[in-house]
Amino acid sequence: MTTDHPDTDDSNCSCSRSTPGSRRTLLTGALALALAPLGLPAAWAATDARRARPQPGDRLAFSDGEQKGKTMALADLKVGDPPRLAYPLDPATQTVRDGSRINLLLLVRLDPKDISEKTKPHAADGVVAYSAVCTHYGCPITLLHENKHAIVCTCHGSTFDAGNNGEILVGPATRRLAILPLKAADGMPTVAAGFIGRLGPPQE
Ligand code: FES
Repeated sequence: MTTDHPDTDDSNCSCSRSTPGSRRTLLTGALALALAPLGLPAAWAATDARRARPQPGDRLAFSDGEQKGKTMALADLKVGDPPRLAYPLDPATQTVRDGSRINLLLLVRLDPKDISEKTKPHAADGVVAYSAVCTHYGCPITLLHENKHAIVCTCHGSTFDAGNNGEILVGPATRRLAILPLKAADGMPTVAAGFIGRLGPPQE
């Protein structure tokens, strides 16, 4: 198990950034030009696509097991089955966005009666998606509670309500999971919007 803190959602980051024309920006631009003949900027672009957060229209690709890399269909998920882990997949380029561990997603299909009014707009035919990175110390969340709507981190037992916005049911985590809004398209869970909520454990 790792207790590394993954990177957090850039949109929520208060870190400083280079302003256009700053020394860092100029140096970065000069370096890119110098390396252009080697074709490295294209490689960087591919790396960026792999590290980008889920984008609207992305599909989901299984992250592990025999189906690793395969595009997930809604029919792959059944009520009561264990959560499935996935990474976002850009359907245009078939790029799996697995370049950042914080992009790991958990998908689970719930009985409609277990989905709250708040969560319903973000579900696709009963399937909901959350950041799979536990907000306690960052373990992947893999277990479905016997109540069939809570998901459990097996590292220290934090339990989140997948039917209600990823809210905490049992600690030690102190922050809910970020939800990834989905829609159904061509029988596949498809990203409808970016994450809602902060990603990963609180930074120390
Ligand atoms: Fe501690 Fe998940 S990492 S409960």
